[in-house]
Amino acid sequence: MRNYLKYQLRSVEKMPTKIWPKAKEGSDHVARSIALAIRQRQQENQHIVLGLATGSSPIQVYRELVRLHKEEDLSFHNVITFNLDEYYPMDPGAIQSYVRFMNEHLFDHIDIPKENVHIPDGTLDMAEVEKYCQEYERKINSHGGIDIQLLGIGRTGHIGFNEPGSWENSETRMVRLDALTRRDAAKDFDREQDIPYRAITMGIKTIMNAKKIYLLGWGQHKAYILQKAIEGEITPNIPSTYLQKHPNVSVHLDTGAAELLTRFDAPWLIGICNWDEDLICKAVTWLSDRAGKPILKLTNEDYAEYGLSDLTIEQASSYDINIRMFNRLQHTITGWPGGKPNADDTTRPERRTPDSKRVIIFSPHPDDDVISMGGTFQRLVDQGHEVHVAYQTSGNIAVHDHHARLFLEFSLELINAKSKELVNTDYGKELSKMLRQVIQKNEKPKAAADTRLVKGLIRRGEARAGARLCGLPEKQIHFLDMPFYETGKTRKKPLGNEDINIIADLMRTIKPHQVYAAGDLADPHGTHATCLEAIFQAYELVKKEAWAQEAWLWLYRGAWHEWPVYEIEMAVPISPTELLKKRDAIFMHQSQKDRPPFPGNDSREFWQRAEDRNKDLANAYRRLGLAEYEAMEAFSRWKFPWQEAGKSVNHTHNSKSKPKPRAHSKS
Ligand code: F6R
Repeated sequence: MRNYLKYQLRSVEKMPTKIWPKAKEGSDHVARSIALAIRQRQQENQHIVLGLATGSSPIQVYRELVRLHKEEDLSFHNVITFNLDEYYPMDPGAIQSYVRFMNEHLFDHIDIPKENVHIPDGTLDMAEVEKYCQEYERKINSHGGIDIQLLGIGRTGHIGFNEPGSWENSETRMVRLDALTRRDAAKDFDREQDIPYRAITMGIKTIMNAKKIYLLGWGQHKAYILQKAIEGEITPNIPSTYLQKHPNVSVHLDTGAAELLTRFDAPWLIGICNWDEDLICKAVTWLSDRAGKPILKLTNEDYAEYGLSDLTIEQASSYDINIRMFNRLQHTITGWPGGKPNADDTTRPERRTPDSKRVIIFSPHPDDDVISMGGTFQRLVDQGHEVHVAYQTSGNIAVHDHHARLFLEFSLELINAKSKELVNTDYGKELSKMLRQVIQKNEKPKAAADTRLVKGLIRRGEARAGARLCGLPEKQIHFLDMPFYETGKTRKKPLGNEDINIIADLMRTIKPHQVYAAGDLADPHGTHATCLEAIFQAYELVKKEAWAQEAWLWLYRGAWHEWPVYEIEMAVPISPTELLKKRDAIFMHQSQKDRPPFPGNDSREFWQRAEDRNKDLANAYRRLGLAEYEAMEAFSRWKFPWQEAGKSVNHTHNSKSKPKPRAHSKS
């Protein structure tokens, strides 16, 4: 992420905050700092007390600590740990238990003495809890208190499970989980009713007594609450704001999580800026929103009133800036996502040649293509491009058992109706066995793999139907079933060479002019981010091949976020009729209707989210003073430096070199 500030005149951040290009770099840094402290204590023959967190935030810290243990002789023999919290009630053997989490991610792989590990006990009787919590506090104190505390932050602003309303002097105790926290936890539980309502957690005071605190935040989905925690007033409504009072806290964020800090969101409010076209566009769209006026109506007074007089003094009059930015946004709008043949393409987002382009739409799950770019998908096909869609993962965990049962029963009844003898063949027996396994919820590895196979095939059928509705012939629909996804759990394997080669091979076969991919950075551990990483790495493999120079990468956003307007480079209008057709394509994904398993934290159905988002974007353009459309889909182009250098001479496209808050950006 570009730091736009020339001088920091006045800091609004109330905790020391370090921003890393990638979560891994920040996590490795924190792990190395912890390792250093452990080694120092070893030299002094002393123990060290670590306060540990679970969840996605510290996973890479633990991975790096395990690596340091295995490869660089880091011993944990002098380490004593206290975990922040545990669900209540919770069996330590359950897959959602924090005991199991800690064993899997850390304790099973290091030489920590078992008696040095402390995790709140989720199996106690209610009557025992209070005493147990007092004892937990006593134990922490008896070891001299926590030396280093690791923290993640929940979207409610909780630390540990200290939810909004927690008091500064709270100690280890039983708490009720916030509704939002329970919704976020849904990804780890099969059914909503299984998510515990309670937890045992260290208190704010317990955490604040730690000598050193690391607060970790990765991904855009944390940006909103982190801005409040770091820049907001201290309040029990956002318990992480208490950390502002800690004398030795440091916050570590990746660029996505830092996005809403004022230094990135509105840097002109805190210092003198290095203005470039992107920052000016960001400032002007921000100003238009704050002043409630379309761009062409903004005056010098508006710029001054909202802290942007620096821009009009240093750059140009408001009149010139307004026109420049209006035109820039105007040029992002095109009904020709594959380029308009025989038209001047100087200010168009895509090249006019070749008239008919080869296109690959990568879809992380089997429905992201139609949800996120269903309108553009149809236009590309209608405008005569050779469109291929590639479903990167099987999406098999997001199908209910009852759906698998329905299809297996159907298959059995079909063969029975055709010929009763078929039921007694090996094929019929196999189908009956698979049906039994689903009904009995058989979780043995082989049975679970059978069920996943059925679920994956259900999603294949739906994806095929959606793509067919958009006009694709069968041979242009590809199912990649990337292996990293196939764990049967929400936690996936790390990306491997096999995954990357699958993508590179398809690209080599098709030699696309355009590649569309989900550019989601909202969840750095999520499937979308891994699928995108696979595409980046595949590009690395093919970049020397001539066709790769021409293979422009366009990023769309998944179901959750839209690009901010100033980052959009291509906005494709969707007419009311196209929007209805897009809805029909989303409807093909029957297994995802009416609350699929792991639905995320938005209760709207996918077609509703997609339509709201596409209409919101059209409204945002309208409010800025551009034409009024029914709906719009948006894309941002990823520019590889090697691609820019080798740009074909007969393309007159006016390529913007755009710094982006992303690690792979060329700037
Ligand atoms: C976990 C804990 C929680 C998490 C927080 C963020 O022990 O106490 O406060 O740190 O909910 O969770 P993730 O990291 O999964 O986003």
